[in-house]
Amino acid sequence: MTSLWQASRPPVPADPFTPGASYDSVVVGAGITGISTALLLARSGQRVAVLEARRAGDVTTGNTTGKVSLLQGTQLSTIIRHHGAETARHYVTGNLEGQSWLLRFCREHGIPFDTADAVNYSVTATGATVLAAELDACRAAGLSPTLGNESSLPFAVTSSLRLAGQAQFHPLQVLAGLVADLRSHGGALIEGVRVEGITTGKLKGDKIRVNTARGPVMAEHLILATGTPILDRGGHFSVLTPQRSYAVAFTAEEGSPLELDGMYLSVDPPTRSLRTSVVNSRKYLITGGNGHRVGRQTHTQGLVDDLVRWTQQHFGSVHPVHHWSAQDYEPASAVPYVGRLPLSRHNIYTATGYNKWGLTNAVAAALALSAEILGGHMPWARKLYATRVAPQDALSTVKSNAGAGLELINGWLGSLARTSTVNPPEGQGVVVRTGARPEGVCVVDGVTHRVSAVCPHLGGVLGWNDAERSWDCPLHGSRFTAEGTLLEGPATRDLTRGG
Ligand SMILES: Cc1cc2nc3c(=O)[nH]c(=O)nc-3n(C[C@H](O)[C@H](O)[C@H](O)COP(=O)(O)OP(=O)(O)OC[C@H]3O[C@@H](n4cnc5c(N)ncnc54)[C@H](O)[C@@H]3O)c2cc1C
Ligand code: FES
Repeated sequence: MTSLWQASRPPVPADPFTPGASYDSVVVGAGITGISTALLLARSGQRVAVLEARRAGDVTTGNTTGKVSLLQGTQLSTIIRHHGAETARHYVTGNLEGQSWLLRFCREHGIPFDTADAVNYSVTATGATVLAAELDACRAAGLSPTLGNESSLPFAVTSSLRLAGQAQFHPLQVLAGLVADLRSHGGALIEGVRVEGITTGKLKGDKIRVNTARGPVMAEHLILATGTPILDRGGHFSVLTPQRSYAVAFTAEEGSPLELDGMYLSVDPPTRSLRTSVVNSRKYLITGGNGHRVGRQTHTQGLVDDLVRWTQQHFGSVHPVHHWSAQDYEPASAVPYVGRLPLSRHNIYTATGYNKWGLTNAVAAALALSAEILGGHMPWARKLYATRVAPQDALSTVKSNAGAGLELINGWLGSLARTSTVNPPEGQGVVVRTGARPEGVCVVDGVTHRVSAVCPHLGGVLGWNDAERSWDCPLHGSRFTAEGTLLEGPATRDLTRGG
């Protein structure tokens, strides 16, 4: 599955890896968080390197729907329910700063974006009530959307909440522009280097040794911009829920307009996200949705097919040309976790938990982290990111951990019930017992692959994802190819081959 953005990605030059090199800041991860943080640090004169396991934008940033919006579904109602209106105001301030910085960057560097209304819509009476509540939440947080029932969707809506002056873009064009500016300020983007761990000295000011398979590098400051943090020191994996969802880009018959007067998002389940985009002079309709917790669905191809069916039912003769999927991390506290790793004496920072609104939240995080590292001060950031797990979240975290614990036991028991003689059909995978260990067996393009089905992160038993032909961990969202190569998540190692 390849996103519209990946299929039209601009070339991004990368720099060589120098084992033993020393930097003021090492950023791990070249998505929007890592590259924008690195750029801000490099602009201040720091010597900065970004270490990326794959290619820049390969994971979530290159597979988003590319909306740059302050109207974010029911995010503000949720934040107010958890923390009250003041935190929601700080959240809006941070996202506005992130959005303004990013769009200014695009303007100054000739990177195209469209200004568009963001529209939440409902198709049920319950959904209309949800939108009325979100209007109140927006007003309490300092936004002024309008409530009505206008929409350019080809079906009836019961209500719509519209915020003018938002934006949409091609995320990899923007990332390429940020990388070019980073390199012009002396920063380095180093691709194909996975960080496997770190070694810290006993003293507070000691440099951090960043360990990779190709040798170490040294850093004064280390920023983990890896989607979900790869080091378990902060315990973030226990307060983040990895959520995966799907998107499809369609073209229309010649002469068919494919018009939408904004970027749409449903508040009724199942979620539907819609926008249009012109890429290489061709117009596309993008629809997204059908999300679920990573690793909890095997027949994911059915979710992609459902999205195609739904779109063709409502938009007539549109043809699917790109299908893709990605995941982001839902924070138990309803706001992102950004800042120095708790309980660390060293200069280790992270930013995570954007809940599928990272294009503004990641830049807000980059502004906050770079200010903290450079000794600056952002009042909204100090207050917003001081928010940790609130008392009511502690309960949901305990429940989610209990769910993950059950998932772990169920995974082991399920695999123990199946013997290794089970052989899946083409495109499918199954976890079986080999001795006392779970083994993943799958068949892809006629080739049978056998891997250990035990996640190298914390021992979850992996499940098969048939749309993406990958092994996915239901605990904290690590994912691996059919052959066992690590794709994403908090794990830092591949699966053991051959079971
Ligand atoms: C389907 C979907 C649609 C979305 N649509 C929108 C939208 O319309 N608007 C919006 O604002 N947000 C959207 N989001 C959310 C947004 O895309 C993300 O929040 C954002 O891209 C996260 O960026 P990131 O840089 O933190 O993570 P990523 O882009 O995932 O980057 C992390 C990088 O770290 C690298 N990495 C990981 N581990 C290591 C390691 N050990 N060593 C070296 N490198 C490592 C990875 O390879 C990866 O490149 C969407 C999310 C999803 C899932
Ligand atoms: S991702 Fe944590 S156990 Fe698999």
